[in-house]
Amino acid sequence: MDTKIVKIDENAIDHEAIKAAGDVIKKGGLVAFPTETVYGLGGNALDPGASRKIYEAKGRPSDNPLIVHIYRMEDLYEVAADVSNDAIKLADKFWPGPLTMIFNKKAIVPGETTGGLDTVAVRMPDNSIASEFIKASGGFVAAPSANLSGRPSPTSAAHVIEDMDGRIDMIIDGGSSVIGLESTIVDMTGDVPMILRPGYISGEMVKDVLFKVDYDPAVFGDVTEGLRPKAPGMKYRHYAPKGELMIIKGDRDLVVRYIQERITGGLEQGKRVGIIATDETAGYYRDATLLKSVGAREDEESIARHLYAVLRECDDSDIDLIFSEDFDTPRIGQAIMNRLIKAAGHNIVNV
Ligand code: TXA
Ligand code: MG
Repeated sequence: MDTKIVKIDENAIDHEAIKAAGDVIKKGGLVAFPTETVYGLGGNALDPGASRKIYEAKGRPSDNPLIVHIYRMEDLYEVAADVSNDAIKLADKFWPGPLTMIFNKKAIVPGETTGGLDTVAVRMPDNSIASEFIKASGGFVAAPSANLSGRPSPTSAAHVIEDMDGRIDMIIDGGSSVIGLESTIVDMTGDVPMILRPGYISGEMVKDVLFKVDYDPAVFGDVTEGLRPKAPGMKYRHYAPKGELMIIKGDRDLVVRYIQERITGGLEQGKRVGIIATDETAGYYRDATLLKSVGAREDEESIARHLYAVLRECDDSDIDLIFSEDFDTPRIGQAIMNRLIKAAGHNIVNV
């Protein structure tokens, strides 16, 4: 398949290009598009055939439900039943934005889109290319992150091209994602909102609005046997780098010293060694094959924004051993570490 790549400027939207992208979706095709979190791989959410194509293009198990993206509040009621006052309060506060809410689904949403569940995940993204595109597509775009299953979510069109060129009809290049981590997922079907996947919007921020919040134990990386995460996608080891990834936790000096010893040891064994550091610490490391700063500890948003690109670079450089500092920052730290710990397969050393 020939994949058309179209550049669109968020500040000067080309409406003809958006219309052409919308037409692809209306005809049952697939278009990757930018959002503020990560790039999405879009298809018509109300068309079972389009959802099947999405799973096929990603190489993803079809029991993993898709998020339905909308561009205006009234459309929520078309796909979701039993929308509570709490959900309306969260939508008022955080939509458009990096928040996905789970509701009981209406019959119009095919089981193919929800992985056979009776519930549906809905999000209104905060990116004008995304909203115009969803509108031009008929209003309901099912979209997982636009990576091949097992790779980090794409935060630029170049990442999407790496994974999806030749597999989908069109890729909209709208520049780099501002947030860089997937949305926070909150289950709104119970009395207390439950965080299923942490993201830029923290549980505390939800609690500030509703005065209550619960967390699915899977959020804290609890992998107890028999404990199934409520978001089916959270059970998969999302992304494993080709090399072995280890997270090193502890006081900064001890972490730096430990990692430096491992660099030396790894190189002696003929391994290619990658380091994921921060602006504050990158200057302390010597001789690593690849030394990347993910951003400044002082600026946790920069860490979230760059994490996936850095993980992709480790693969591109054929790194055998990756040592990462931990990034337990105040607000988004839980989301950042949730993704990093998964990528490391829970390989953590406390020094
Ligand atoms: O930021 C995002 O959410 C991005 C952009 C493109 O919007 N999308 C995204 O989609 O991350 P995906 O498919 O990679 O992750 C969706 C997660 C999966 O873990 C899935 O299991 C969960 O949402 N999910 C979807 N529908 C659900 C439902 N009805 N109940 C529980 N979990 C659900
Ligand atoms: Mg994903």
